[in-house]
Amino acid sequence: MKTNPLYHMKKTIIAANWKSNKTKNEAKIWLNETALGNFPEHFEIVIFPSFTLLDYISGFVRINDTPFKIGAQDISPFDSGPYTGEISGKLIKEFADYVLIGHSERRAGFGESDEMIRKKVDMALRAGLTPIVCVSNISQLDGLESKEGLVIAYEPLGAISTSGPNAQPENPSLTSEFVQKIKEKISAEVIYGGSVEAGNVGQYISLENISGVLVGGQSLDPINFINIIKNAI
Ligand code: 13P
Repeated sequence: MKTNPLYHMKKTIIAANWKSNKTKNEAKIWLNETALGNFPEHFEIVIFPSFTLLDYISGFVRINDTPFKIGAQDISPFDSGPYTGEISGKLIKEFADYVLIGHSERRAGFGESDEMIRKKVDMALRAGLTPIVCVSNISQLDGLESKEGLVIAYEPLGAISTSGPNAQPENPSLTSEFVQKIKEKISAEVIYGGSVEAGNVGQYISLENISGVLVGGQSLDPINFINIIKNAI
């Protein structure tokens, strides 16, 4: 059991990043299966579907009183207005409470700079969303200010399951050391992401300085995700 006194006040985040996966019908099947699960109150279970599913999933959660929170996978660096294709914080806030910002896949595949990411964090906070900023190294924290509610997701590049044939979860003691460095630089809750699965989630959740996990591949299957939650208890 953690000794951190804050542990009893803050919830442990178990987040599912679906990335660019799931049609509406697939999401419906996933929700119907996971809704049967048992979710202890000290967990904040957050689903990050694609934008196209935010409306549907928020409706499902409301109607069925399912204890899931919802997040978007990205946010516009601009306010609402003439920005074709962009989704502003105000538009996200209708359906979600969280937003992922600066995922390594966006930094690598869409050229997102640290400056762009800082703008997105500002937009998220202004819209009343909780930003989860993904970082893989310490310099990506430069210029980010400690703000109430800010969450950092530490995702080492080689640990992300889709990063290549040698991808593997980071050794939890190395994770803990890195999280310590993050916390020396910024005051924020930190969660870990990278090949988290039912078999290893307990090793991360039990680290003193970690507030949860961000799960990619293993969140797509409802049974795998429920098992992750079970093993995180
Ligand atoms: P995996 O859990 O598939 O390694 O993905 C991690 C991730 O990128 C979550 O945002």
